[in-house]
Amino acid sequence: MHRTPTSQSPIGIFDSGVGGLTVLKAMQKLLPSEQLLYFGDTARVPYGTKSQVTIRRYAEEDTRILLRHQPKMIIVACNTVSALALDVVEKTADPLPVLGVLEAGADTAVEVTRTGRIGVIGTQATISSNAYAYAINQASADSEVFSTACPLFVPLAEEGMLNNEATRLIAREYLAPLLAEEIDTLVLGCTHYPILRTIIEETAGTGVTIIDSAEAVAARAAALLRNTGMEASGTRATIPHLMVSDLPQKFSSLYRLFMNATVPDVELVEV
Ligand code: DGL
Repeated sequence: MHRTPTSQSPIGIFDSGVGGLTVLKAMQKLLPSEQLLYFGDTARVPYGTKSQVTIRRYAEEDTRILLRHQPKMIIVACNTVSALALDVVEKTADPLPVLGVLEAGADTAVEVTRTGRIGVIGTQATISSNAYAYAINQASADSEVFSTACPLFVPLAEEGMLNNEATRLIAREYLAPLLAEEIDTLVLGCTHYPILRTIIEETAGTGVTIIDSAEAVAARAAALLRNTGMEASGTRATIPHLMVSDLPQKFSSLYRLFMNATVPDVELVEV
């Protein structure tokens, strides 16, 4: 049974794995008194190499896991789900507000670019869907979008290979065609990629502005809560409620690495 959410209800966030922690981190920074609920579908990661039918089924199941905790809002901290299944999440969570990372990232890129030459990197599913190019062109018809899938970035992030020669080589290989197009803005269109931000930034060079869709969606969430009077009251920083579908210990060690914080308990849920 659904109770009407109040301003003190939690905000539900999900991703296929640890990638959405970049959204959790951005949310904690911007909205420290919100109670955050995070689900990482670590049993079924990666999503980005799977078919649309499968991704849509996962999206519905992930949303239902968050709904058990009566959230006031759902944030899809996964570009792949935002690109291929945002409508499924909206329908499952109705009438709750749902924010996806993709539109937030696309709009920020359009605001930031000076030349209109925008690079987008994401999972195979996100790039093949053309959802970023569509969203960017909706916001600015003059922009030119150059995109490329970087499937190896997800396992590199999941393995915590953040400052590593292999990651650096792969980044060079992936980014070369985009840099040859003289992009001035690069959207990290997968929430796992900000985990590798240092290497991506270093490879792209100083002339390219990096857009982190995680930060963009957190700013949107803050604005939505403010405009609807649903901001949580209180001044104390909250501890997030973490849930995963497999290997909670592995998730805990990656959490410690990326978040630079003590790890709260991680609950194992069945999918
Ligand atoms: N972090 C996700 C995204 O933003 C998905 C990565 C994956 O599971 O392939 O697309």
